[in-house]
Amino acid sequence: MERVAVVTGAARGIGAAVARRLAADGMAVAALDLDEAACADTVARIVSAGGTAIAVGADVSEADRVERAVERVVAELGPPVVLVNNAGIIRDNLLFKMGEEDWDLVMGVHLKGAFLMTKAVQGHMVDAGYGRIVSLSSTSALGNRGQANYAAAKAGIQGFTKTLALELGRFGVTANAVAPGFIVTEMTASTAARVGVEFEEFQRAATAQIPVRRVGYPEDVAHTVSFLASEGAGFVSGQVIYVAGGPRG
Ligand SMILES: NC(=O)c1ccc[n+]([C@@H]2O[C@H](COP(=O)([O-])OP(=O)(O)OC[C@H]3O[C@@H](n4cnc5c(N)ncnc54)[C@H](O)[C@@H]3O)[C@@H](O)[C@H]2O)c1
Repeated sequence: MERVAVVTGAARGIGAAVARRLAADGMAVAALDLDEAACADTVARIVSAGGTAIAVGADVSEADRVERAVERVVAELGPPVVLVNNAGIIRDNLLFKMGEEDWDLVMGVHLKGAFLMTKAVQGHMVDAGYGRIVSLSSTSALGNRGQANYAAAKAGIQGFTKTLALELGRFGVTANAVAPGFIVTEMTASTAARVGVEFEEFQRAATAQIPVRRVGYPEDVAHTVSFLASEGAGFVSGQVIYVAGGPRG
């Protein structure tokens, strides 16, 4: 039977690439995002490649929505044993200009979202005696100007991950984090727009700072998630893998 995976923020960018990759790896994938219709493209690409996928609409920061979403996954695909906490937003500003709402929104999606999703799914993993939890951190966890909220959330994901590894290891469940550097998505495009630089130029400037001299793509992250979500990675837990073309971004 196909293993069931839930990927949050799967409508586009890194989440969409992860959903396609896990489906290609043989998993049945629930592509979850704020808007169910926005996942149609991700699902269509998986199905046309011969895979199994459904679109699920939910805000990961709302407990009721998360519980209902996971119940739907169980009913339509079966109990999930792979979870990728990928949904994310940015609300960048220097600390003195950062509003309380910008702090709460970022914490709500990244940290509370990962907490609620993991809590809703972990029982199914424990029942199965098998599970793989992969959460998206970032090189920003090491500190990044203008991202006090996001950096704190992404560092928090690392502590959350290590604690999950300690608590759930005995049930056959691993938990790891992937920390990307510069990845070409709408998120980095929006940062370029915010600072008033053409996205091409923004990517060239980033490339000059990256040891492998190229920017990253969603598929680079999906490859690492695929490894951590695989059965063979069962002795790797509580780790943070930087996918940044160098030791850090
Ligand atoms: N792009 C990068 O350079 C980069 C680097 C490091 C880490 N990351 C992390 O990778 C993840 C994916 O980033 P991306 O670049 O693909 O971003 P993106 O903005 O292209 O996609 C994020 C997706 O998450 C969804 N989402 C946002 N809030 C949600 C919520 N409350 N509930 C459900 N879905 C929600 C959005 O609708 C969107 O489809 C994020 O956690 C991000 O912080 C990205």
